[in-house]
Amino acid sequence: TTPLIVDTDPGIDDAFALALAAHSPEVDLIGVTTVFGNVSLEHTTRNALGLLAALGRPDVPVAAGAARPLVHPQPHVSRAHGDDGLSGLAHTLPVGTADPRDAVTLLRDLLLAAERPVTIVPIGPLTNIALLLAAHPGLKEKIDRLVVMGGGLAGGNITAAAEFNLWSDPEAARRVLVDEDVPVTLVPMDLTQRCAVTAQWLDLLSASSPTGALLTSFTPAYLATYRRFLGWDGMVLHDAVAVAEAIRPGLLTTARHPVEVDCAHGPGRGALIADRRLEAQGGIDVAVDTDLDGLRAFLLERLGH
Ligand code: BDR
Ligand code: CA
Repeated sequence: TTPLIVDTDPGIDDAFALALAAHSPEVDLIGVTTVFGNVSLEHTTRNALGLLAALGRPDVPVAAGAARPLVHPQPHVSRAHGDDGLSGLAHTLPVGTADPRDAVTLLRDLLLAAERPVTIVPIGPLTNIALLLAAHPGLKEKIDRLVVMGGGLAGGNITAAAEFNLWSDPEAARRVLVDEDVPVTLVPMDLTQRCAVTAQWLDLLSASSPTGALLTSFTPAYLATYRRFLGWDGMVLHDAVAVAEAIRPGLLTTARHPVEVDCAHGPGRGALIADRRLEAQGGIDVAVDTDLDGLRAFLLERLGH
């Protein structure tokens, strides 16, 4: 089994992603680190602890990381995840106790102790990962791969140009995706949006298992937002797509592109710029396609177990 760490800001789709990681025998979830993002660090940490306890994995250490971006704070935005990150239902979860270490220290300790290279799945702003790579460059060789959810090839979701996770800390994203020589598979929103699930799919999941019922309990308000803005009866499970790739390497088809993250303070701040010209060489693996129905069936089977 592959040792796996999830760096997260739960977040409704993060909750699905954590459940997938916690319930997959192909991987050993050895730790979870939290970051500000969908809501404050206090909420994302409480949510990660509560979710793991509710999922029967209180054994997984959870350490709190960055409460704000590396360099420039972004304006506060209200997101579809509710004030507590879980549609106002975070209080229904058990209360857990965070690891006394901070996220970078837990990541360091887990990497040092791991007998096999570790897969890290960052599904929030990349602040903790940038700090880890800056503080402990020698530990890169213990990282098998980062499977990052973030960026949009054809525009964004939080601004016209930028996707939320990259926009939340562009300087950190630039460090991780561009400056550091660490293997990355980037799962952009262009693909995650195509992996959207319908309200019927969620109903099936809800009826399938206690985990399914727990996860779908957070979704009604989120679904209402999709209905209002897109006229569409379903939702996107962005972060679960990245975890699925970590569990089943190669599940997503990738193309290798050099990338840049716009760190200027203009309308493009936080945008992913992938060089898709024929002559472009090197870069990171960007997920561009998958068997969409196969992925939805896999998620249903795993989360509904
Ligand atoms: C990303 O932003 C967050 O709201 C989601 O949890 C996901 O990680 C999608 O843009
Ligand atoms: Ca997230």
